[in-house]
Amino acid sequence: MKTYSVAVIPGDGIGPEVVNESLKVLKAMEDVHGGLKFVTKEFDWNCSYYLKNGRMMPENGLEQLREHDVILFGAVGDPAVPDHVSVWELILPIRKQFEQYVNLRPVKLLRGLESPLRYKSHQDLDFVVVRENTEGEYSNSGGLTHEGTPYELAVQNNIFTRYGSERIIKYAYNLAAKRSKKRLTVATKSNAINYAMPFWDEIVKEVGTNYNVETQLYHIDALAAYFISRPEEFDVIVASNLFGDILSDLGAATVGGLGLTPSGNINPEKKYPSMFEPIHGSAPDIAGKGIANPIAQIWSISLMMDHLQMPELGELIVNAIEEVLENTAIKTPDLGGKNSTEDMGNAIVSQIYKLG
Ligand code: NAI
Ligand code: MG
Repeated sequence: MKTYSVAVIPGDGIGPEVVNESLKVLKAMEDVHGGLKFVTKEFDWNCSYYLKNGRMMPENGLEQLREHDVILFGAVGDPAVPDHVSVWELILPIRKQFEQYVNLRPVKLLRGLESPLRYKSHQDLDFVVVRENTEGEYSNSGGLTHEGTPYELAVQNNIFTRYGSERIIKYAYNLAAKRSKKRLTVATKSNAINYAMPFWDEIVKEVGTNYNVETQLYHIDALAAYFISRPEEFDVIVASNLFGDILSDLGAATVGGLGLTPSGNINPEKKYPSMFEPIHGSAPDIAGKGIANPIAQIWSISLMMDHLQMPELGELIVNAIEEVLENTAIKTPDLGGKNSTEDMGNAIVSQIYKLG
């Protein structure tokens, strides 16, 4: 019996609602596989915890998480707590301290769904955004001065290290080399961000010489436009933290929206636990109604299976999601239907048992 320990942080808003459905999928993985056990431990770290304790997680929170093989994360954020507090004190420390330097975000139009890009088909929309996840524009470096005066000023530094850039670019090349198109697209803006981005481009050039992969560099503004006009060109895209964040939300919109798209925060060396989550937030506008789409969270379990080197289980989950979308009438309101979070979760679970 292979046993993995999973730390579960449901978080706020729709987080617990969609995590609940994804735990059913985790259980189904055990049943389908036969020789597999997931021992889950839930942590109540969220904005309510903050309002009670003045912090998003206990002082030894990271130590507690460290003991687990992987982390399943819902979403955090509540109107009662400033967003920069909930994000900076919970998600970002986990990503940084656990060297989850890869943020992997598949952009794939599932069977049974149509893209808002009217002329694009399923073959056209199937790529992966590899986002740098520990530095760049989200480096927590800067400050405020002369606050409350007319001279008030804010400085926010972008930090690009050679070490940090090299490792994400290598990861992206390795991934591109394994896929059929053998093409890496690089997001840059070396014409305007004239120190960090030429540095980034130079590292792309150096690392790229070791791979038999075609490399395209596009400025981020043009690249955003190409996401709409010619997405079929892409296979693996590597981008800095901010650029990758924006591109992957845009990518998500082209394949059906935030309710569908997952992400893995990955420490490829497996020195620390990796974390799997939807790319969406806590959606306070629909929280408590039981209508959130659980697909993004469930798909994140698929990425978890890939990470744990059980890609056949990862594929099974995506197939089950596609079966439900293509061959049943079950749709949550974001997909134009009337079904609940639970209806969707249960339908996917029963497809897993059918196909598994
Ligand atoms: P959001 O992703 O929570 O919501 C944006 C829109 O998408 C809303 O209209 C929402 O109803 C819809 N939506 C999101 N997920 C959905 C799902 N599964 N099914 C159906 N509809 C869905 O982003 P927003 O509104 O900018 O932020 C809300 C809170 O979430 C904020 O506190 C923010 O800081 C936090 N947040 C947390 C993240 C995380 O925990 N990783 C990521 C992004 C935002
Ligand atoms: Mg985002």
